[in-house]
Amino acid sequence: MASFGVGGAHPGGLQLTKSILARENIDQETLILDVGCGTGQTSAYIAEKYRCSVTSLDSNNIMLEKAKQRFLSLNLAINVMHGSVENLPFCDGLFDFILSESVTSFTDASLTIQEFKRVLKPNGVLLAIEMVLEDSLSEEELKIIIEFYGVSQILSELDWYNLFKKTGFKEISVGKFKQQSNKNDIDIDAAPDFLLSENIDDKLLAILEKHEQLRKTYKDKLGFYVFRCSF
Ligand SMILES: C[S@@+](CC[C@H](N)C(=O)[O-])C[C@H]1O[C@@H](n2cnc3c(N)ncnc32)[C@H](O)[C@@H]1O
Repeated sequence: MASFGVGGAHPGGLQLTKSILARENIDQETLILDVGCGTGQTSAYIAEKYRCSVTSLDSNNIMLEKAKQRFLSLNLAINVMHGSVENLPFCDGLFDFILSESVTSFTDASLTIQEFKRVLKPNGVLLAIEMVLEDSLSEEELKIIIEFYGVSQILSELDWYNLFKKTGFKEISVGKFKQQSNKNDIDIDAAPDFLLSENIDDKLLAILEKHEQLRKTYKDKLGFYVFRCSF
């Protein structure tokens, strides 16, 4: 993804992000952490729209470089941090919101969710968009998906719910996001954001094709849900 220069890399794109954030109370005093920020599309949107304090963290340096370029070109003062969500470089109880858009599945989810809880204020909110297993997959199918995407696990809605609960989140609400299947329904806000790198290798284009093929094959078995977790 970093090599492709894919900016907004979660299902639903910026449109979904906007609708999730619009339901929250965010003002200039709010402190938001965008974990696994990628190339910073969401962080830039939040900083421009809400004029609040945004911290963008990712473990991939190519992503962070692209995020920095984006923030510089938009003249946005956003804190950019290199680090892992499994061991966040922040003190306890710092943030009002954590946004995790298609990130936790790539990590040890149990560790990561504990870290989210630790760095959130007691009245803080975690907003997470995650891949969810909606129907059973064979061992072989699971292996194909896990290997291709590099995710650490594919959890069901109940698995996610139990993980959030076990970590100490008390209020957990779940929204289901459905991918548009009609190819003619192109919505610029819901589409991926490309800051394409130069000299893209043919191998990378093959990866994008494979992604599209897997997305179609498993569209009824893999969903993307929005989890809102608070204490
Ligand atoms: C699918 S992309 C999503 C990027 C961005 N949130 C978005 O929606 O456009 C996953 C991102 O998570 C980052 N990531 C993966 N594992 C991570 C970890 N342990 N700590 C921090 N970031 C991580 C990747 O580098 C990548 O930028």
